[in-house]
Amino acid sequence: MLLATLPSIYAWTILAILVTGMYLFGAKRRRPVFPIVNKYPHDFLNQKANRQYIQNASTLITSGLNKHQSPVTIVIPNGQKIVLPSSLTGWVKTNKDLDHKKLVQHDFFAGFPGFDAQDALQHPNETLIGVIRTKLGQNDSTMEAMNASLAKAFRVLWGDGDGQWRIIDWHNDTMGIIAHAASSVFVGPEKADDGEWLEIVQGYVTAYFTAVGELHGYPSWSRSMVHWFLPNAAACRKYVSRARAIMNDVLQKRREEVKLAKLQGREGPEYNDALAWIQAASSGNEHAKTPEPEAGDFQLALAMAALFTTTEAFRQVLIHLAAKPDVVEALRSEVSKQIEQHGISVAATNNMVLLDSVMKESQRLSAAVVALERIAVKDTTLPDGTLIPRGSHITVDSTSLLDSSSYPNPLAFDAHRFLRKRQAGDKSNQFVQSGPDYSVFGGGRHICPGRFFAANEVKLALAHVLLKYDFRLAEGYESKNIRNGFYTIVDPMAKFEIKRRKPSLGEVLG
Ligand code: HEM
Repeated sequence: MLLATLPSIYAWTILAILVTGMYLFGAKRRRPVFPIVNKYPHDFLNQKANRQYIQNASTLITSGLNKHQSPVTIVIPNGQKIVLPSSLTGWVKTNKDLDHKKLVQHDFFAGFPGFDAQDALQHPNETLIGVIRTKLGQNDSTMEAMNASLAKAFRVLWGDGDGQWRIIDWHNDTMGIIAHAASSVFVGPEKADDGEWLEIVQGYVTAYFTAVGELHGYPSWSRSMVHWFLPNAAACRKYVSRARAIMNDVLQKRREEVKLAKLQGREGPEYNDALAWIQAASSGNEHAKTPEPEAGDFQLALAMAALFTTTEAFRQVLIHLAAKPDVVEALRSEVSKQIEQHGISVAATNNMVLLDSVMKESQRLSAAVVALERIAVKDTTLPDGTLIPRGSHITVDSTSLLDSSSYPNPLAFDAHRFLRKRQAGDKSNQFVQSGPDYSVFGGGRHICPGRFFAANEVKLALAHVLLKYDFRLAEGYESKNIRNGFYTIVDPMAKFEIKRRKPSLGEVLG
């Protein structure tokens, strides 16, 4: 009899702990400064609030800002965010009391075992961000290696083809292309095309972001325990330990090569990749207070910052272009002209101005509905004097990206939209640029330092697609992005078909 009731005793105990925890968690939260846009009667556990946020964030923000004529608060599964109107973009960009790093550390659980990539990215020495800023951007010396890696990746993943249409494995064959391209610059020749390494970086990024999303579903007080039981967090721990071992082997081998060269009285090999740049920057930091992260952690940090974001950009352009054969033809001619003129170089990608406009238009249509996510590290006041208390999470309304007052016919994909603005002399319309109403790469001191690299990489990958393949969405397939609160996920199920072009202009790309 007692045995029969035990499971229910356990169940009730666990429920009681959870409810008490959630109550305490809720009680600890301060009263919001601004009206909440998704507050509903009897919604004590915020179930309706979260559902509304996931499905209707854009409408909640625009109608809330209109109704209250003040900033608003929105409840999200991970807490509350203050959404400021876009007129405060400049104030956010320049306010030193607002920090991006600390927000990311908090929201993405820096410090949890296995989430070490986040610690490496946010490390106080700023080694990685420094390398991204100074070495990764418009670096001609890495373009050939990236191009060779792309050529190989397309051969392996998309195929040389038999002149027949075939459907690609949308998730793997898009992320795989970007992972190959990025690895050629991040990790260098030893591992750039190595199957196990590519699996580690892609697997880590997927497991990490999934684990973070799962943790947001648990009350904050429980997360430091719960992560031990989540399979995706466990996978992260394994990936970190394997990445560290592999990178330490590569570094050991490099040290031996240099030593041998010295012994033989010849010049040692020079490595031109982020692995080597980070090593060099770290050795300059030897006297810094906090020891540098491991090389493997830095690599996973690069993958975490670069892989998902850039793959989504690549995917979105492919889907948009699949419906625009006339634009595809114009792009083919632009891309081949620039490569013929400038070779595989930053000059070539910089001069692909229609492609740049296409990428920015594509980004506009799938951008998050907010930008500039920050945490107040001190009490700070809005220009009208309203106090934003320390610890508040704030972000800025970005829905004007889909507003007809800023972008005529805003829901239509207009390949030339940003090119026209650029040609009219408006200088803030290149893919990598932010503007007063365009903050998709953020802004101020935290603006994305990887955007130049992302632009080059996506342009080069698209050059391969344009010159080597015909492509389309499967007949009758209508692509739909997924709205997930503030964010848009590019159609994860796209049925994308390709056929190798013959004869191919793409031979120039290898
Ligand atoms: C299309 C691709 C990308 C998009 C849309 C993107 C977007 C962003 C955004 C919105 C931020 C926050 C900036 C802010 O709030 O002011 C950011 C920060 C950052 N991004 Fe990117 N990013 C992309 C690619 C990359 C790549 C390829 C790298 C590295 C190679 C990278 C590295 C970083 C880093 C290190 C930060 C943190 C900067 C800081 O805290 O100061 N990103 N990115």
